[in-house]
Amino acid sequence: MPRILIIDDEPAIRKTLGTILEDEGHKTSACESGEEGIALFAREEFDLVLLDLWLPGIDGLAVLERLRGAGGTPVIVISGHGSVDSAVRATRLGAYDFLEKPLSLERVLLTVNHAISDRRLREQVRDLRRLALEEILVGESEPMKHLEQQIRSAAASHSRVLITGENGSGKEIVARTLHRLSPRAEQSFVDVNCAAIPEELIESELFGHRKGAFTGAIDDRKGKFELADGGTLFLDEVGDMSLKTQAKVLRVLQEQTFQRVGGQQTIRVDVRVLAATNKDLGSEIANNTFRSDLYYRLNVIPIEVPPLRARGNDVVLLAEYFLRRFAAETGQPKKRLAAAAAAKLKTYHWPGNVRELRNVAERLAILLQGDTVEPEDIQLGARADEPAQIAMNLTLKEARDEFEKQYILARLREYGGNVSRAADALRVERSNLYRKLHAYGIRVERP
Ligand SMILES: Nc1ncnc2c1ncn2[C@@H]1O[C@H](COP(=O)(O)OP(=O)(O)OP(=O)(O)O)[C@@H](O)[C@H]1O
Ligand SMILES: [Mg+2]
Repeated sequence: MPRILIIDDEPAIRKTLGTILEDEGHKTSACESGEEGIALFAREEFDLVLLDLWLPGIDGLAVLERLRGAGGTPVIVISGHGSVDSAVRATRLGAYDFLEKPLSLERVLLTVNHAISDRRLREQVRDLRRLALEEILVGESEPMKHLEQQIRSAAASHSRVLITGENGSGKEIVARTLHRLSPRAEQSFVDVNCAAIPEELIESELFGHRKGAFTGAIDDRKGKFELADGGTLFLDEVGDMSLKTQAKVLRVLQEQTFQRVGGQQTIRVDVRVLAATNKDLGSEIANNTFRSDLYYRLNVIPIEVPPLRARGNDVVLLAEYFLRRFAAETGQPKKRLAAAAAAKLKTYHWPGNVRELRNVAERLAILLQGDTVEPEDIQLGARADEPAQIAMNLTLKEARDEFEKQYILARLREYGGNVSRAADALRVERSNLYRKLHAYGIRVERP
């Protein structure tokens, strides 16, 4: 049911408008000054505002500016007879349309219905556009199939989910996908990056505040919990929340109610909470930097996102996917990944996971001149204790020998040059390993 806010100082007009709009099936709230209107608008959701331009206190144009700053809600202004000038100014300031007094009720209904269906259409277009840009979870490997299954069953439930995984492995995209597959998909997905918000602001960010609650609180404001009402709240980097904030979040999770900072009123919300972290909360708990009671509240369903290095050929699928995306964004033809280049991507260990791969693909899509990506075009980070990247112009035997040599060297380093232990780890006879060391010209100190 569309909700309409009427701001007009004439009681008769408020009453008439209220009556005819309610008869049409709209829900209305009315007030007699701009100040009240702004406060009400901050407190509740409206689909449309009817605003008299001539008001006591702050005038209609100033109110309009404030309301327009707040988002996409259409405002229809009502101007006194013969004051078309200010009505025109109002439309320039972003008013949807204007109505002239004395009001023709027919025209009021027509304009209101237009504005509402317009807004709905605009929202649909926005949703569709967002959907088209929406990132999909790419991957066909066993770990990803398993992950997808976990996401699906978690989505169907109402339980809280704690998503863990290395940097850049896809925790946020997993949270978004989960929301999209859940019964709350039509409602909002609100995310809070707990690490990015300064400690003194996080409470107001989460719970909102009342005007004047602290320096800088110039207006009433809704917090993320309220904005997510009916939908999903994603607490990202939850391991970075201070103990004080953890205590407050815990209370909301227990009681589903809270107060705005500086507010008295108890607000009740229906929010599904998803949380993510790349920290090991177990050790955070041991160090007393994370509350175990909060941990158990958040971790009803644990989902672990596998590191990219464990996803086999997904690396290549993802690389192709990102090359396609970046090509589409820049309007250029998509670059092809040579087989040797794909092999190079697959052997790398991807400490930065999918985000690192995405950056590599972006660089290639933008900077590479030709239309084919060759292995030497790909620059990857090195890891000193891993077998080096093998050059791709070797014969199979040369490549195999080179790999074996590098691998043995790496394991030897791992065991501090102790041949017996390296041989155990490699599951070869010690004498066999010595032969190989000799053949590859690797010198070790005999103990
Ligand atoms: N399976 C996937 N398919 C497609 N894109 C992915 C996939 N996984 C991750 N991405 C993309 O990789 C980037 C990093 O993913 P995301 O931000 O979800 O990771 P994260 O685990 O939250 O990272 P951080 O630990 O840095 O917060 C994003 O651009 C995301 O869209
Ligand atoms: Mg993230």
